[in-house]
Amino acid sequence: MNEVVAYKPSIAGRVARTVLPGLRRILPTGVYGFVYELAYGSYKKLLYVGHGVKVAARRPFVSGNRKLRDKLTFRLLPHTMGGRKALENAFDVIEKVENAKVDGAIVECGVAEGGTAAMMAMASRALGEKEREKWFFDSYEGLPEPTAEDYSDGRVGEFIRPLPKGSCLGTIEQVEELLFDDLGLDRARTHLVKGWFQDTVPPHKAIIGDIAVLRLDGDWYESTKIPLDNFYDKMPAGGYVIIDDYATCFGSRKATDEFREERKIGTPLLEDGRGGVYFEKPAAS
Ligand SMILES: C[S@@+](CC[C@H](N)C(=O)[O-])C[C@H]1O[C@@H](n2cnc3c(N)ncnc32)[C@H](O)[C@@H]1O
Repeated sequence: MNEVVAYKPSIAGRVARTVLPGLRRILPTGVYGFVYELAYGSYKKLLYVGHGVKVAARRPFVSGNRKLRDKLTFRLLPHTMGGRKALENAFDVIEKVENAKVDGAIVECGVAEGGTAAMMAMASRALGEKEREKWFFDSYEGLPEPTAEDYSDGRVGEFIRPLPKGSCLGTIEQVEELLFDDLGLDRARTHLVKGWFQDTVPPHKAIIGDIAVLRLDGDWYESTKIPLDNFYDKMPAGGYVIIDDYATCFGSRKATDEFREERKIGTPLLEDGRGGVYFEKPAAS
């Protein structure tokens, strides 16, 4: 099943993949980084406006949970690196566990500025019967260096974005502002755990209860493998694992494939439409 999940760049992504490598070759690293951030920022703004127009146009024709999903996606797009489909997928997975009444917390490892974490928390608050515990793990200092397990042919993934240590940064203050000040989530049930997963995840195995949704968005091999090794056993059957970077980051895919093989997980990898995947925890695994 896994080999069918491929990286699917958008049209803008394809254009960028044609133009940016040339610029990368001719520009000094610092200048390229600046040009990239400028282009990425403008692209995100364009996407935001485009999505707003689309949502407004279809508003009279959608109702119920779809309307809520549109509204939250528009609200949270500026706070995520995952884009619209990652947000919609996060909403859909929460909807599944709420409908099936799967008990447990919502956990994300790789929060950055908090967009997808906020989506899961807000969707659960709107659709669930009771407030769930939320655990959001991140260094809140950006990415660590990749390790040898992340590389294939000298590359760590399919993206054009440079990902040095400290990139994809979202600070804990930014996330607190979004979750608590702007969205009014319950501080007592929303735990932001700061530090490297290598240090923070293993001790939390004994602290967190059941986990209904485990969303992994840490890009690298270890950042995917460590939460799977520690948290998967805390999930009841019917819970969902989301792997945001499956088709874009080689290490994330490797960790996921190894883990599914080891545990003989037979439920299919379902695609989110942009290279992320998710799967349901089967009864025995
Ligand atoms: C792609 S971003 C997450 C995107 C986010 N979910 C969103 O909605 O935009 C990856 C995040 O994973 C975090 N991360 C990756 N590996 C980590 C590790 N080993 N320990 C702590 N944080 C890590 C980085 O700090 C970064 O914030």
